[in-house]
Amino acid sequence: MIFNVNRVRPTGNNTFSPRPSTGRLNTDNQKRESNLTINAMRILCVADKVVPALYENFDRGQFGRIDLILSCGDVPPEYLSFLKGVFGAPLYYILGNHDIRYGQSPPEGCMDIHGRLVRCGSLKILGLAGSRWYNGGPNQYHEWQMRRLVWRLRPRLWWKKGVDIVLTHAPPRHIHDQEDPCHRGFAIYRRLIDWYRPRYFLHGHIHRGFADDNERITSVGTTQVINCFGHYIFESQDS
Ligand SMILES: [Fe+2]
Repeated sequence: MIFNVNRVRPTGNNTFSPRPSTGRLNTDNQKRESNLTINAMRILCVADKVVPALYENFDRGQFGRIDLILSCGDVPPEYLSFLKGVFGAPLYYILGNHDIRYGQSPPEGCMDIHGRLVRCGSLKILGLAGSRWYNGGPNQYHEWQMRRLVWRLRPRLWWKKGVDIVLTHAPPRHIHDQEDPCHRGFAIYRRLIDWYRPRYFLHGHIHRGFADDNERITSVGTTQVINCFGHYIFESQDS
């Protein structure tokens, strides 16, 4: 069952009990996470920079329960290992255009979901890594390459009856993006939103400050496109 998600809202402050890192994601944990039936989820999203309050200045009292962690890329793998360890929640990530060390030192206990549709509780999450091609570096894609990847995923998306969260590094074209070659969004992401109407489309890559968390969000139909630069926590619930 896919639950209906209330509108995104900033987090409150609660307490939680950190758990140590498991070192690696084992099969039992994956089964347990995929079988969760969660009525309400507090989701932590990170992207593009290490937030001191979530790393070197981490204070467990400042954050409530976290049920799921999602990384939109361009953060050190050690940062994700740390977050996985202290929150003890499933952590899914995709790579950004600056993520060049994950091959040698992947984050412990976390799952790369680039090109995959995974389930966490009742949420179906699709991951798409990288930025538009601009200088031939890692994790860069031409529009036609990303279009081909999305089209190859369509049978699985049809079989699984759509997607709830799309997790990317680059934004959709003309939503939160910029005009330089590196920061242009992918046009196929707009099609993806039109086709499947995910509840959330989460991205990073576009660095900017936000006076208010609502500035992160653009609604496209029933989809909320959210720039997760830094960190952002929202809550979703069953109706
Ligand atoms: Fe980036």
